[in-house]
Amino acid sequence: MVELRLPAKSRILEGKHYPMTGQEKNVKRFQIYRWNPDVDENPRYDVYDVDMDQCGPMVLDALIKIKNDTDTTLAFRRSCREGICGSCAMNIDGTNTLACTKPIEEVSGVVKINPLPHMSVVKDLIPDLTLAYAQYTSVKPWLQSDTPAPARERLQSEEDRAKLDGLWECILCFCCTTSCPSYWWNPEKYLGPATLLQSYRWIADSRDDHTGERLDNLEDPFKLYRCHTIMNCTKTCPKGLNPAKAIGEIKQKMVERQS
Ligand code: SF4
Ligand code: SF4
Ligand code: FES
Repeated sequence: MVELRLPAKSRILEGKHYPMTGQEKNVKRFQIYRWNPDVDENPRYDVYDVDMDQCGPMVLDALIKIKNDTDTTLAFRRSCREGICGSCAMNIDGTNTLACTKPIEEVSGVVKINPLPHMSVVKDLIPDLTLAYAQYTSVKPWLQSDTPAPARERLQSEEDRAKLDGLWECILCFCCTTSCPSYWWNPEKYLGPATLLQSYRWIADSRDDHTGERLDNLEDPFKLYRCHTIMNCTKTCPKGLNPAKAIGEIKQKMVERQS
């Protein structure tokens, strides 16, 4: 029988346990992925016990408490603490989401925390988003108008403005992209749901004059058409957006311009 083994350095080992004193009455356990590029060691899961009577309600509160009180070496991104900047995206309890808006009480048992899946890891819970941002840049995510800038803002009817709802709210956390099997298999070629939703945000904007060029840029067997409507993206979006629908709208525009 063939024995399948992971490459040696990809096996996640059991790490350290940081217990409480035993006096605390309300303890929650967190199992957190750790990997340090400066040390030639396998990744590991460290386990931290946190006194919930001394901790805020969100997973990010616990991470900050662990970093402040227990283990200053723990690395993760965060900024706004209110679901706006997208930087605290990680996999919590098997789902990609934002640590700052994920209530700890929603997780029964041990809170298992990993970096966003299928991305290179910079350190601990910090994914390398270099490729994702390069793909985002490739769709020119800014207004391209052929008319001179007016003295004040470019006006838009209420109906046209409403077409951007469900798109402008995207915070580029990449929870969707990193949950997408099509992106896992072809990250270099498929743009992924976050970038495609952002692309559609400009395609749908009545003030933009470069719709044709934007669609030309996506007319490719991989960039757009690798989406197979698996819907993981929409299920996981912590902002309640629907990237799969936006991708469907782009495909519809492709069909319309051929008829
Ligand atoms: S609907 Fe498309 S983008 Fe979303 S998870 Fe499925 S394949 Fe990926
Ligand atoms: S669509 Fe949702 S999950 Fe995807 S990047 Fe935007 S906010 Fe994050
Ligand atoms: S810290 Fe900004 S979204 Fe979580």
